[in-house]
Amino acid sequence: MKRLENQVAIVAGGSGGIGSEIVNQLLSEGSKVVSVDITEPKKNISNNNLLFKKFDSTDINSWKKIVKITLKNFKKINFLINCFGTNFRKEFDDQSLDEWQKIIDVNLTGVFLGIKSVVPFMKKEKIGSIINFGSIVTLRGGVNGPAYQASKTGLIGLTRSTALAYASDNIRCNMICPGHVDTDFIRENNLHSPNDWSTSIKNPLNYEKRKKGIPLNDFQEAQDIANLAIFLCSNESKMITGTIIPVDGGSTI
Ligand SMILES: NC(=O)c1ccc[n+]([C@@H]2O[C@H](COP(=O)([O-])OP(=O)(O)OC[C@H]3O[C@@H](n4cnc5c(N)ncnc54)[C@H](O)[C@@H]3O)[C@@H](O)[C@H]2O)c1
Repeated sequence: MKRLENQVAIVAGGSGGIGSEIVNQLLSEGSKVVSVDITEPKKNISNNNLLFKKFDSTDINSWKKIVKITLKNFKKINFLINCFGTNFRKEFDDQSLDEWQKIIDVNLTGVFLGIKSVVPFMKKEKIGSIINFGSIVTLRGGVNGPAYQASKTGLIGLTRSTALAYASDNIRCNMICPGHVDTDFIRENNLHSPNDWSTSIKNPLNYEKRKKGIPLNDFQEAQDIANLAIFLCSNESKMITGTIIPVDGGSTI
């Protein structure tokens, strides 16, 4: 018996570097998966247990549609993994109100909307696990963007509040804080996460600077993060809720 046999997951941000690895691991553990993202997946996987739909985390109707599609195809919802994110890396003086609003809308309000949308259906199953995504700046200060930091610390409150509100329904909520993971988020110049030479890890100086700050002396792989997500979905973590867990090679010690 696989660890997540006959369970149903929504992975929001499923086209991303970390999200797509979570999708793969959920499928190998026997879960059915609805992967949703504002961006198409890089690789199309043909699997009867997997659906992809386009969606925008800031739009309540988008969430409603995803829930409807999940229930229609797979009948229930056990897991919600909120693995989307946006960032515009600007110092405080340069961060505009528009950027602030966009980052808070996607990273924080998007997670609130997601939780509100799935909880009524998780309640029916009496088993649910919600996983939010923080960052190093959830746990320590950083100069590169007040909005991103505010959104990722705001998620501490949202995670704990969800955990307490729905513990009696056996719905758990936890937050994973990745450190430095070599994905498009910190490498490419994408709309949701623009990087130029001054911020991208394609620049060897940036790569080495980040690496130097990691006591275990290496970047994390998407797999390292997905391993924890699978554990937090599984029954092995049935007594874990409201926690904020770094997977950062010791960067926030
Ligand atoms: N990569 C890292 O080093 C790192 C470090 C700390 C935290 N994180 C966090 O981990 C999570 C996953 O990041 P990743 O490294 O996989 O990045 P990624 O850029 O590979 O994936 C992020 C995904 O979010 C999607 N997205 C952005 N805005 C959206 C919206 N409005 N609606 C729906 N989808 C949207 C993007 O299309 C993308 O597929 C994010 O929350 C990020 O903040 C990443």
